[in-house]
Amino acid sequence: MSNTWLSTLKTDSPQEGFELAIKLSRMGVKYTQPSDEIRKRLREDYANNADSLIAASQVVAVNFQTIAAANKYWNS
Ligand code: HEM
Repeated sequence: MSNTWLSTLKTDSPQEGFELAIKLSRMGVKYTQPSDEIRKRLREDYANNADSLIAASQVVAVNFQTIAAANKYWNS
């Protein structure tokens, strides 16, 4: 996975920042499990499990904290 897919953490809005946080989170899973076939198989499990969805949301929240800080909370 050598193509550049993350060139900046700066985003124009908090919503775009949140969407980038989701992208980072999903890419973390993709680097960890590169097999499309295995990820597709496991999707069914986590998509139907409340605890898995809460865990995924927490990963997004942690990444969003980093992105928000990098964007100085979109205040400037
Ligand atoms: C789909 C987020 C973990 C496999 C999705 C979608 C989101 C998402 C937002 C919906 C995309 C769409 O329909 O437009 C996350 C987050 C995760 C996570 C935030 C945890 C940090 C995982 C894991 C697996 C997985 C652990 C499997 C090992 C998939 C697959 C799809 C999917 C196969 C369907 C892709 C498609 O239909 O194009 N995920 N996911 N995800 N996720 Fe996850």
